[in-house]
Amino acid sequence: MCGLSDMQETSEVKLTNMEKEMRRLIRDPKLLPPEKQTLLSIIADLAAAMNMSCFIVGGFVRDLLLGKPVNDLDIIVEGDAIKLGEALIQKHGGQLTPHTKFRTAIWHLPSTFTRSVQPSSLDLITARSESYLNPGALPTVKPSTIEDDLRRRDFTINAMAVRMDGDHFGELLDPLNGLADLEKGLIRVLHPRSFIDDPTRIFRAIRYEQRYFFTLEPSTFNLVNLESLAVITRLSGERIRHELDLIFGEEHSFQMIQRAGSLGLFDRIHPDLPLFNPDYSDFLDMDPMLDIPADRIAVGYMLWLMDLSEESIQSISNRLDFTADLEDLISAVARLKKSLPFLVNSKPSEWTYAIEKLPLLSIYVMYLISRETALLDYLSIWRHVRPRITGDDLKSRGLSPGPRFGEILTQLRSAWLDGQVKNAQEEKELLNTLL
Ligand code: CTP
Repeated sequence: MCGLSDMQETSEVKLTNMEKEMRRLIRDPKLLPPEKQTLLSIIADLAAAMNMSCFIVGGFVRDLLLGKPVNDLDIIVEGDAIKLGEALIQKHGGQLTPHTKFRTAIWHLPSTFTRSVQPSSLDLITARSESYLNPGALPTVKPSTIEDDLRRRDFTINAMAVRMDGDHFGELLDPLNGLADLEKGLIRVLHPRSFIDDPTRIFRAIRYEQRYFFTLEPSTFNLVNLESLAVITRLSGERIRHELDLIFGEEHSFQMIQRAGSLGLFDRIHPDLPLFNPDYSDFLDMDPMLDIPADRIAVGYMLWLMDLSEESIQSISNRLDFTADLEDLISAVARLKKSLPFLVNSKPSEWTYAIEKLPLLSIYVMYLISRETALLDYLSIWRHVRPRITGDDLKSRGLSPGPRFGEILTQLRSAWLDGQVKNAQEEKELLNTLL
């Protein structure tokens, strides 16, 4: 038996040039890290021993053929993925979460892998066919062949598979001519009802178009029409938000949002959704700064929606099922933007008390677009300033805890912030005047 792990081709197996090329790509450590190659070979070997055809599909094949590093291992077997998963945990350890309805399983990898492989689990899928009972609804699925599985997919460039088991290792399955479209840079649906069945594919088409600088093949482009756009209106907020999250996770999210808007998608989601303000587009790629956790997706939404009214933000948040945290971030930055003109020329203590209840990320985003140095001073210095005198010190000076306590500590803090005290001695002198 031959396989991914054998570096020498066996002499009995005659390989086509395409198979040789696929084997070379899969074994290229720049495209697929060696630990993932090992993982794949373990799965493929066991599938072969169990007489199951085993394939790697979708974005993995597309990106490999484009010479781009691949990450997600989408594994499909003709047979029973749960049985394969059970054999894997028996032989290699880890845990299995089976989903009997769809004959799929999640293999939570053993620690031998999780040290070097991320994510720490992978999906094992049984090849399936899908049918859509209603436009925009989730499909009904049943076990089937790999060919059927490829036919249920979104675009030809995503409908290729590479076989992994035994001597078949490296065979490219391309029944829908995805390779030709990949070479021409075309995004083409597999059938005319594709966007009606699943209008989230329109967002996906836009992502691939802008990510790879591809083109929507003309008849596919024409399918982004009144009929398919109408189905977007029926999609749940969660499904639309997932697509928007994916967009904001991408490098060219600005172009993707503009394209989605210009194709009329936003009108179908919420009447107040704007195009992206081009003045803000550079800030989508902000680097993490200070100790503020970088959240590319949240920053994307903030920049996109911050110029809207409070009511529009709230209403869009309801439609798109934003988390409370995300809605807070967008509202906070919108409010800060409106109050900024009133804060300019304020003292550091006034700035600090005005903004310290706001989420740090909203202040940082506002700093990015305004370059107001007080915001940066707040983030890097002022928010950490505390009086050196503590509540215990006040008690030992005979003051009993109460509202006056807090007032004194705030006055001391303001004095530090505004440079009225610069050392412990000056602080003590100020306290004497306050007691
Ligand atoms: N797919 C589909 N229709 C969808 C979503 C996914 O047909 N609405 C199929 C495509 O064949 C896709 C595969 O499922 O290749 C995996 O989906 P996903 O992981 O979302 O995409 P990737 O192809 O991995 O692409 P990306 O690089 O954008 O993650």
